[in-house]
Amino acid sequence: MAVVTGSTSGIGKAIALEYARQGAKVVVTGRREGLGEQVVAQIKSEGGQGAYCRTDVSAKEDVLALAQFVGDTYGVLDILVNNAAPAALAREADGRIGDISEDIWDEMWRTGLRGTCLCCKYLMPLLVKSGRGSIIHMSSIQGLRGSGWDAYSMMKGGLISLTRSMAVNGAKHNVRVNCICPGAVIVERTEQLYAADPKMEQLARLQSLTRVGRPQDIAWIAVYLAADEAAYTTGEIFTIDGGVYARGRLRLPEMPAV
Ligand SMILES: NC(=O)c1ccc[n+]([C@@H]2O[C@H](COP(=O)([O-])OP(=O)(O)OC[C@H]3O[C@@H](n4cnc5c(N)ncnc54)[C@H](OP(=O)(O)O)[C@@H]3O)[C@@H](O)[C@H]2O)c1
Repeated sequence: MAVVTGSTSGIGKAIALEYARQGAKVVVTGRREGLGEQVVAQIKSEGGQGAYCRTDVSAKEDVLALAQFVGDTYGVLDILVNNAAPAALAREADGRIGDISEDIWDEMWRTGLRGTCLCCKYLMPLLVKSGRGSIIHMSSIQGLRGSGWDAYSMMKGGLISLTRSMAVNGAKHNVRVNCICPGAVIVERTEQLYAADPKMEQLARLQSLTRVGRPQDIAWIAVYLAADEAAYTTGEIFTIDGGVYARGRLRLPEMPAV
């Protein structure tokens, strides 16, 4: 049984769909109800089991309602993917500290960090009850390296520290905590940007594998981290970026943020 936050689109949606294909019951969350219901309809059309629970992860009452829904419906939780983040604001969060508005800082903190902590806090009893809980935080290579996205890097770097600390505490209850750091991934939100901006072609060339990522690339590692085959894996940070981090250069000058 899995909860994937922010699974109405993009990487979260791909993870929710793949978990369902692998046999998990999946709760799809996010604020856009129409899209959430569409993801559940796709899960069911492929023979899987899922439900949508509208959740704004930055709102404590929503997270409490999510925990209540999961507890009442399934009684237990095996997998929590903390994927929700204000990814659409990444462009505004791209820049020097003095140029970023307080509203953007607040949103990075409120959704990306506080929202993740709320989900962990209120869903933890159900993960402990499972006896084999797996928490996966969705960070970014921007949380590992300095590339000038001050606000976004703050949010994603925080998740990396949270992963290691929570892994120590979670181990007492056999709750594993790991983190995924994707590089650039084309999602619905960025498809047009990639298509319209010739500079994005350069981004593909930065990757050792000469292409940007797809949501399904990230879904496969989320499948592994949730599986019993990863039973000895906790506190780890998994970079999946086509080899760009290995190369040491995340962006070119004047490259637009995605
Ligand atoms: N695409 C990339 O290149 C890339 C690279 C590295 C890391 N990431 C990370 O991957 C994750 C997914 O991003 P994406 O690229 O797939 O973008 P996306 O399609 O915009 O997905 C973001 C998801 O987060 C949800 N969300 C945002 N604010 C929320 C809130 N307050 N409460 C609940 N859900 C919320 C959105 O759902 P609603 O709008 O329906 O609420 C949406 O489902 C993010 O953590 C992002 O930072 C992305």
